[in-house]
Amino acid sequence: MFGDHSDTRPYPQQGYERLIQTSPIGVIGQGNINDENELLARLGPDTVMMMGDNPALPRMPERPTLLDYFRLRFSDMTCQHLLGSAKRALVAGHSEKVVMACLLHDISNGCLVRPDHGYWSAQIVAPYVDEEVAWAIKYHQALRYVPDPAVGYDYPVSYDKFFGPDYEMPAYLRRDAEVAREHKWYLTSRVVTINDVYFYDDLETATPEEFTDIIGRNFRQPEEGLGLDDSPSAHMWRTMIWPNNFL
Ligand SMILES: [Fe+2]
Ligand SMILES: [Fe+2]
Repeated sequence: MFGDHSDTRPYPQQGYERLIQTSPIGVIGQGNINDENELLARLGPDTVMMMGDNPALPRMPERPTLLDYFRLRFSDMTCQHLLGSAKRALVAGHSEKVVMACLLHDISNGCLVRPDHGYWSAQIVAPYVDEEVAWAIKYHQALRYVPDPAVGYDYPVSYDKFFGPDYEMPAYLRRDAEVAREHKWYLTSRVVTINDVYFYDDLETATPEEFTDIIGRNFRQPEEGLGLDDSPSAHMWRTMIWPNNFL
């Protein structure tokens, strides 16, 4: 699961000490000191701010594909959760569109950002997938909170654990859940929530390679490499290639 050992490209900034300024969203509100001035004061002839491939991370190929992000960037938990949800949908006989929505539904949690992850995940993949897939991903976040007895979907037990039993869904998600309920693609997003189970539930195990063919038919992989193209979300993928870049 680690980078390609035959890759002999030199790393940038070799011979320098590379400093990493953590992105604000990773530290704000936790009482951590994230002093940009203190870090900048350490710059000198042998010290630079990190830019480009970080030698501490598995190296991404020059033209990354979707599966490279699964193998080399996403956290184990998100990777298994996405693969397991997609496998569950596949085994249940759902369409490739539904399988793709399950495979990508929490993609922002893998290596980018957690808050409002359904909205982020939808935007990250939108240029590369069917419109219905991105729509289902966006609205799964709101629909997760809303039971639908007609299809056997209950409020997740895990949400009581995560947020506490007294947690109430915010107004913006209530609003978006109502929008989704009336939409022609409601069931696509609903099926994502039905297959949205965690490793401690009855999750299927799967490897990224099992989805190679479905991805090939349903994900427009750019020739330049995912993130090195000029799509409206290419910068989000680039941020996952180089998450420690100073600018
Ligand atoms: Fe989610
Ligand atoms: Fe999920």
